[in-house]
Amino acid sequence: MPSSRTQVAIIGAGPSGLLLGQLLHKAGIDNVIVERQTGEYVLGRVRAGVLEQTTIDLLDEAGVGQRMHREGLVHGGFELSFGGARHRIDMHGLTGGKQVMIYGQTEVTRDLMDARAALGLSTVYEAKSVAIHDFDGRHPTLTWRKDGAEHELQCDFVAGCDGYHGVSRASVPEGGVAHYEKVYPFGWLGVLVDQPPVSHELIYSNHERGFALCSMRSPTRSRHYVQVPLEDRAEDWSDAAFWDELRRRLDPRAADSLMTGPSIEKSIAPLRSFVAEPMRFGRLFLAGDAAHIVPPTGAKGLNLAASDVRYLSRALIEFHAERSEAGIDAYSDRCLRRIWKAERFSWWFTSLTHRFPETGAIGRKLQRAELDYLVSSRAASTAMAENYVGLPFED
Ligand code: APR
Ligand code: PHB
Repeated sequence: MPSSRTQVAIIGAGPSGLLLGQLLHKAGIDNVIVERQTGEYVLGRVRAGVLEQTTIDLLDEAGVGQRMHREGLVHGGFELSFGGARHRIDMHGLTGGKQVMIYGQTEVTRDLMDARAALGLSTVYEAKSVAIHDFDGRHPTLTWRKDGAEHELQCDFVAGCDGYHGVSRASVPEGGVAHYEKVYPFGWLGVLVDQPPVSHELIYSNHERGFALCSMRSPTRSRHYVQVPLEDRAEDWSDAAFWDELRRRLDPRAADSLMTGPSIEKSIAPLRSFVAEPMRFGRLFLAGDAAHIVPPTGAKGLNLAASDVRYLSRALIEFHAERSEAGIDAYSDRCLRRIWKAERFSWWFTSLTHRFPETGAIGRKLQRAELDYLVSSRAASTAMAENYVGLPFED
């Protein structure tokens, strides 16, 4: 069996794995990424597109920020729509100047892939049956099958960046990991369209027919969502039906400015809150969606993945430079403290804006009262804004 060696074996070439690989390489730490799918498949997944300042800073640190700064849209606020009117949350003003950037996850992934390819770093695509061995000792190995042959990779550490359905978390012996999970009784039907956005900032709408969101990828490309029952299938939603439903859930001015067109992509995503604890098992670390999922309300998924990678890269760099295990030992607890706060925010924002089967008349009145309070109280708006722009790190 062909066998090779690296310092850090990374499973998964999504944003977590690619960003980790880039940061480690910059620090002189050798790494190999092993990915189940093709690169094109990874780029085909449409995901959210709001970057916190700390995510922007980390992409800059990784040396992949040039296009993001050229093409990304800086937003200092967003709007909440309810009761037929819109109310702006002035993130910039409420947080002492913090902002977010609109730049799609697909573009982040593409920039990371291009940078990795330009550096000639090793990525194995289409690796089947990836398995992790001996991660409870000092010499873990990965094995996989590709083109009919078995391969082995020896390493010092394994980074499980392989998403919710990956092999890393599943490799932990039963009883070694606790799962916390909530599945929401609805999904988001998303449509990508080559039309300008409804407004220059995002609109999150609470409507009695259900939640809606008007987002964007660029000045000429929009991404819109409506809350739909879990049983719905994207193929059964015509473009016309989607536009009608979205329009109904917006305030009259937004509905009038909505520019429609043929959908470029249309899919339904389920909503889930999920955390696995801990995130370290000997020499195996989980990062990103492998360890946690948030519902997309508030767009924390990619940002949380980046925050794990920030902690993990620093811990591994510290280990290799100083032989200190302090960062590695603190990794799981540090990540989880920030993750649970983002889990709470995403759950709260979802609860506030969606129609649940049990919402009922009193539930709607309570949502409305909270929204009124939120937009009229500086304290409440500030709490929302500081979560939206991203909470600080511990170091
Ligand atoms: N072997 C190898 N690779 C695997 C395996 C496996 N057994 N299982 C999964 N993978 C790969 C997937 O094909 C995918 O490319 O791991 C990658 C995981 O990527 P993501 O799911 O994008 O997860 P992550 O990199 O942590 O990114 C988090 O994705 O879902 C969004 O909101 C989330 O924006 C956040 C981001
Ligand atoms: C998106 O643009 O896809 C998006 C933006 C904000 C969210 C969720 C998704 O809260």
